[in-house]
Amino acid sequence: MDSAAVILSEFNSTKSGLSRLTLSDFRNYSYLRINPHLGPIIITGENGTGKTNILEALSFLTPGKGLRGAKLSDVKRITTPFDQDYLPTPLNNTNWAVSALVNKSGEIIEIGTAIEKSLKEYNGDDSRYGDRRIVKINGQKAPSQNELGKYLSAIWLTPQMDRLFRGGAQPRRSFLDRLVYAFDIEHAKRTANFEHLYKQWIQLLKSGNLDNNWLTTLEEAMSALGVAIAAARREIIAKLNKFIENEPDDIFPNVRLELEGTIEKLLNKLSALEVEDFYKESLKRQRRSVIYNENVDGVNRTDFKVYYRKKSMPAELCSTGEQKSLLISIILAQTKCQILDKGFSPILLLDEVVAHLDDLKREALLDKIKDLNLQAWITSTNPLLFSSLKNDAMFFEVRNNQVTLHNPF
Ligand SMILES: Nc1ncnc2c1ncn2[C@@H]1O[C@H](COP(=O)(O)OP(=O)(O)OP(=O)(O)O)[C@@H](O)[C@H]1O
Ligand SMILES: [Mg+2]
Repeated sequence: MDSAAVILSEFNSTKSGLSRLTLSDFRNYSYLRINPHLGPIIITGENGTGKTNILEALSFLTPGKGLRGAKLSDVKRITTPFDQDYLPTPLNNTNWAVSALVNKSGEIIEIGTAIEKSLKEYNGDDSRYGDRRIVKINGQKAPSQNELGKYLSAIWLTPQMDRLFRGGAQPRRSFLDRLVYAFDIEHAKRTANFEHLYKQWIQLLKSGNLDNNWLTTLEEAMSALGVAIAAARREIIAKLNKFIENEPDDIFPNVRLELEGTIEKLLNKLSALEVEDFYKESLKRQRRSVIYNENVDGVNRTDFKVYYRKKSMPAELCSTGEQKSLLISIILAQTKCQILDKGFSPILLLDEVVAHLDDLKREALLDKIKDLNLQAWITSTNPLLFSSLKNDAMFFEVRNNQVTLHNPF
C-alpha cells in the first residue's frame, strides 16, 4: 500500500456506496434486488446476460444520460414471446425505475430515479406524452437530477472508452465535463443550460428569423455561462494535474492533462469579464457560420488532451494497452482526489476492465482497488481472474435475468 493509499484509507474510514440496489423493468430485468457490501463486487456471466445493464442502472443514480448515453425509452424492458409477461411493444406500458439505499459516510439515504410521462406535452392524445426522468430522495421528489450528486458519485470505465483518445472530440469533452462535475455539482447545470441556449440560438438563426435583440440576449447568456464553464474546467484540470504530480509513477503511468479551447486559453491572459466580452462578439461574428453550416468556436468545441507524462507523448499516439493504462491512471487519480476533496468515496463502475490487461497489470489494478477501500463494481466473463480478491470481494453471477451470489473459489 503506498503512502497516499494509507492516508486515503484512514480518511475513508466510513465508507460510502450502496447497501441495496433495486431495478424494475430495466433492460433485461423485470425485477432485481441486490444487497451489496461496501467493497469490491465482481459480476460475472456469459455475454449478453445483463452485466453492463447493472452498471448502467447504477450510473442512472447520478445525473445525466447514464454510461451508455441511452435514450430513456430504450432502457425500458422489452418483453419477448418467451417471457411469461410478454406484451407486444405498443401495449407494453411499463416504466423503468432504479432505486438504492445509499450509505454516505454512515448516513443512510434512499435515492431513486424513474420515468414519468411529462404532462407538459399532454394534449389529450396519450401518444404525445414525453418521457422524463424524475428523481426522489428519501421518498420526496427532488427539484432536479443534480440532487443525486449530493449522495452518490460514480466514476466509470467502459470498453467504448478504449477509443476515447483516437476518435472525435465529443466523447472526450463529455468525459472532461463529467470529471469537472464530480468536483463541482453546478457544472452539470451550466453545461445543460449552455446546450439549451445554444440549440435555441442555432434554431433562431436557421429559421431566418434574425431578431437581433433576441439573438443578442442569447449570446450574452451563452458567453456568461461559457466563461463559467471554461473557468470550472481550468480549475479542476489544474487541481488534478497538481495532485498527479505527487502520485507514484508506476505501472499505470502518470498523465498530464491539457485543455484545448479558445475560451479556456484566453482565460490565461485576460480577466473573466474581458473574455466574456470577447465571446459575445465572437458569437455575433459567427452568426454567419451557423447559416452556412460551419462550425461555431467556443466551449462547445473544447478538446481535452492527455499526455503520457514521462514520455511527453500524446495519448492518441500511445499503444492500445498504454491508452488503457493512461485511462485507468486518470480514473484512479480522480478517485483519490475526489475522496480527499469531498470526504466520501465515489463508486467505481468498471465494465470489462481487466479484459485486455496482462496478468501483472490486472493484479496491480485489483490491488489498487483493494487499497482504495471503496465500492467497486467490476464485470467480467471470467470470475477466475479475480482469485486475488477471493477474501475481499462479493461475487455475483448473472444468468436467466437473475443475479445470484456465487463464490467461484
Ligand atoms: N430494453 C431492453 N429490454 C430487454 N432487454 C434488453 C433491453 N436492452 C438491452 N437488452 C438486452 O440485455 C441483454 C444484456 O445486455 P448487457 O449489455 O448487459 O450484457 P453483458 O452481460 O454486459 O454482455 P457482454 O459480456 O457481451 O458485454 C442483451 O441481450 C440485450 O439484448
Ligand atoms: Mg457488457
